[in-house]
Amino acid sequence: MTPSDVKATLTFSDGSPSVELPIYKGSVGPQVIDIRKLYAQTGRFTYDPGFMSTAACSSAITFIDGDKGELLYRGYPIEELAVNCDFLETCHLLLYGDLPNAAQRADFTKRVTSHTMVNEQMQFFLRGFRRDAHPMAILTGLVGGMSAFYHDSTDINDPHHREISAIRLIAKMPTLVAMAYKYSCGQPYIYPKNDLSYASNFMRMMFATPCEEYVPNDVLVRAMDRIFILHADHEQNASTSTVRLCGSSGTNPFAAIAAGVACLWGPAHGGANEAALNMLEDVHRTGGIERIGEFIRRVKDKNSSVKLMGFGHRVYKNYDPRAKLMRETCHEVLGALGMGNDPILKLAMALEKIALEDEYFVSRKLYPNVDFYSGIVQRAVGIPVSLFTAVFALARTVGWIAQLNEMIGDPEYKIGRPRQLFSGAVRRQVKPLAQRV
Ligand code: SDX
Repeated sequence: MTPSDVKATLTFSDGSPSVELPIYKGSVGPQVIDIRKLYAQTGRFTYDPGFMSTAACSSAITFIDGDKGELLYRGYPIEELAVNCDFLETCHLLLYGDLPNAAQRADFTKRVTSHTMVNEQMQFFLRGFRRDAHPMAILTGLVGGMSAFYHDSTDINDPHHREISAIRLIAKMPTLVAMAYKYSCGQPYIYPKNDLSYASNFMRMMFATPCEEYVPNDVLVRAMDRIFILHADHEQNASTSTVRLCGSSGTNPFAAIAAGVACLWGPAHGGANEAALNMLEDVHRTGGIERIGEFIRRVKDKNSSVKLMGFGHRVYKNYDPRAKLMRETCHEVLGALGMGNDPILKLAMALEKIALEDEYFVSRKLYPNVDFYSGIVQRAVGIPVSLFTAVFALARTVGWIAQLNEMIGDPEYKIGRPRQLFSGAVRRQVKPLAQRV
């Protein structure tokens, strides 16, 4: 952080002494007013429940310019990474700060590939769930349960433990997500095959059976890999902030990542891809394109709780660059599968066109986000809707780990402990039962 020449002065109309607050600037993006000493100097807190104007940390991993619709992983534009790299190269970039050269790429791939199996005992966790359990319920349990197995990589303050747990989590998430899927459909688990690429391995564990091999389709594998890249990290979103806050207590990395999985599940966050596809299928089922006008009216009606899922974003007030890339992938995949006339895709594009011209959405700067098209691609690949958010969690695991490790490696970090504006009952006496009216 570089001190700015500009200072902030806070004055009070009640004559309380004014305070001067330092301002810091990063390499790009908004500057920050350092309020760490504000309470000690003024006896007052700041108030920002949704963190609309609060930087919770300093980070060098991912930068988003919401107005421009720009997303950079360690300075590289997402558009360039999506075309020129694969997911494991992106993982190396997020974790270690730069793209790997050929030797580093081979070494990192080998390290991840040799950790793809999970302990055989983990399969017995799944038996405790009903077959119709939501995959995110299962994944939250399985990821947290990893803490019970890997005692040689649970000390978050040991850099070697952090390195091993990072590799284990990245390597095993595809295996765990595929196991959750196989459990839900009563098929046997498929072991990872280490001669396959990361995305191919995941798709084979999902769709192969002991009775017949799964021959990955290159277009679908590339689409899956791109979905992983686009979802890998996104600065201090709700689930990443959850992982940071959880990890700040010193808990083990598996527990902190399990907290991120739980947070991502919500429909306002990672659960939006499942909700967006369910929304599209509902509209399709109840009249399709002919009924879009009525659906949009319900979305705009303040008395209805209907939202256009996959639209809007706390940071992007322009088109989410990931949504643009996902839309391209949509056309590539559905075209390759002969689904170019897919009614759900056509419905999505019609909804997008209307929303981008409608004053309600334009005035609120509501654009498609990453979740609007990702579900259509996943559905075409054969991923069941209920597994969409688990795929998001699989991809986001590397971002959560990179952010967690950055925090733990920051000498200034402390356990996160927000304060509050208290509006409850002030001190009062307990009355004996007989006197309570
Ligand atoms: C992800 O943070 C991240 O980076 C997240 C993420 C990541 O990679 O980690 O990008 C992944 O979570 C993407 C977002 C997925 N969620 C959805 O698609 C769910 C639908 N979107 C909304 O719930 C909403 O847009 C949020 C939660 C995404 C953002 O909400 P904000 O920033 O708190 O904005 P808001 O709810 O205050 O909305 C502002 C206005 C409101 O109307 P008014 O009160 O001004 O009349 O816009 C309206 C909202 O009602 N609005 C919508 C809407 N989103 C916002 N109206 C209809 N449909 C929507 N989708």
